[in-house]
Amino acid sequence: MSRHYASIAFTPAVRSVQDEHGSATFYGRKADAGAAAPGPDRLTDDERDYLAERDHFYLASVGETGWPYVQFRGGPPGFVKVLDDHSIGWADFRGNLQYISTGNMGGEQRVALIFLDYAHTRRLKVFGRARIVTAPQDPELVASMTDPTYEAVVERAVVVDVAAYDWNCPQHITPRYTLAELEGALEPMRRRLAALEAENAELRAGRT
Ligand SMILES: Cc1cc2nc3c(=O)[nH]c(=O)nc-3n(C[C@H](O)[C@H](O)[C@H](O)COP(=O)(O)O)c2cc1C
Repeated sequence: MSRHYASIAFTPAVRSVQDEHGSATFYGRKADAGAAAPGPDRLTDDERDYLAERDHFYLASVGETGWPYVQFRGGPPGFVKVLDDHSIGWADFRGNLQYISTGNMGGEQRVALIFLDYAHTRRLKVFGRARIVTAPQDPELVASMTDPTYEAVVERAVVVDVAAYDWNCPQHITPRYTLAELEGALEPMRRRLAALEAENAELRAGRT
């Protein structure tokens, strides 16, 4: 848990539930330490390495009505860039033209993101403040986040100043694998199958 995570997430209502369940003292210490910690939380190599492999995440924004809104964001592995120790960003692709997340972030900057690694049952949660950056505003930034080999229309970049983050335990994450991840596991089986088929063919040929 980064230093400011608890002071953001553990609101009075949250702390009162923690109190009911006996975890308020433990978590309260974290919240107090975080509230007193100077300066923003820094991303470490662990977060950098993890984000470099992610091909999706879920983004929660908040609309003017106060309703939270969750949307999926996907792209080639590493499409979420760590821009420096305190900020991340990604190229935002054209979709169904509803622009709910974009509109929400234009008003309330505070967002929450969760990055899941189903294969290794890991998850990283991030709180931050988002801002939209268009190509006319900063062509270099938008270009630096664009992968020209990936089929998508980049409409804008989103930059999130990270306020805090926390790693979750692997509990209750069902391992799931992408085709690319399965390839490594399937390759030895494919080779074995090919060898057995060849041997079978030889045996059949010998019998006739
Ligand atoms: C033609 C098209 C249709 C889509 N239809 C949906 C849809 O019905 N529901 C949905 O959640 N996303 C849909 N998507 C994906 C979203 O447009 C995409 O995730 C986009 O980023 C949504 O942003 P927003 O939810 O913040 O407005 C569609 C994308 C395209 C290109």
